[in-house]
Amino acid sequence: MPPVSTTECRFITVEGIDGAGKSTHVTAMVERLRARGREVVHTREPGGTALAEALRELILHRPMDALTEALLIFAARRDHLRQVIEPALARGATVVCDRFTDATFAYQGAGRGFDTAVLAQLEAWVQEGRHPDLTLWFDVPPAVAAQRLAHARVPDRFEQEPQRFFERVAEGYRERARAHPQRFVMIHSDAPLEAVRAQVEAALAARGL
Ligand SMILES: Nc1ncnc2c1ncn2[C@@H]1O[C@H](COP(=O)(O)OP(=O)(O)OP(=O)(O)O)[C@@H](O)[C@H]1O
Ligand SMILES: [Mg+2]
Repeated sequence: MPPVSTTECRFITVEGIDGAGKSTHVTAMVERLRARGREVVHTREPGGTALAEALRELILHRPMDALTEALLIFAARRDHLRQVIEPALARGATVVCDRFTDATFAYQGAGRGFDTAVLAQLEAWVQEGRHPDLTLWFDVPPAVAAQRLAHARVPDRFEQEPQRFFERVAEGYRERARAHPQRFVMIHSDAPLEAVRAQVEAALAARGL
């Protein structure tokens, strides 16, 4: 893979199925980047603004059909981009976002079976050419992730889905990684915490981060 310059690598996303370990590692990533003198905006999707967080509550807890779900997620993303992500990138800050559009293709596309051509159209309208520079994809077998979450918290609408749903979501992430090999880095997160942390640090160091 050709080296990516540090200045180009300012929009970083973390992806993977529920329980993959994204949130566990994202704080250390943010601290590492700040220690290197960067202004870092740590945010998440769905969410990141007052409006988008309100939409998140609806998306995670209210029953709705797949199109409604996709539209609400992209509505939340539009607000997040306009209010937080684009202004941060414009002033030279780095944005670290826990989930972004790859999750929509994986969950709503591969998981729910929603038309990915429609998702691609929404992606183009909402993002106007904005895409992550680097995506750390935490890959873990769904059975392992389910075991990790079993005692962790009250499940939301997605976490209540059966394991076969997460098998499809995981395949959706694999497809996105194949389609965007230049920005995707796979983190093998079916490993002890320290081993996962080492992979994350190596992925950042390889990009001068
Ligand atoms: N490498 C690991 N080994 C064992 N347990 C882990 C590992 N990484 C994370 N965990 C545990 O698994 C649970 C889920 O981790 P975490 O919340 O980071 O996942 P996530 O990818 O952010 O999930 P979600 O998408 O649902 O937010 C937590 O209880 C965490 O402590
Ligand atoms: Mg999380």
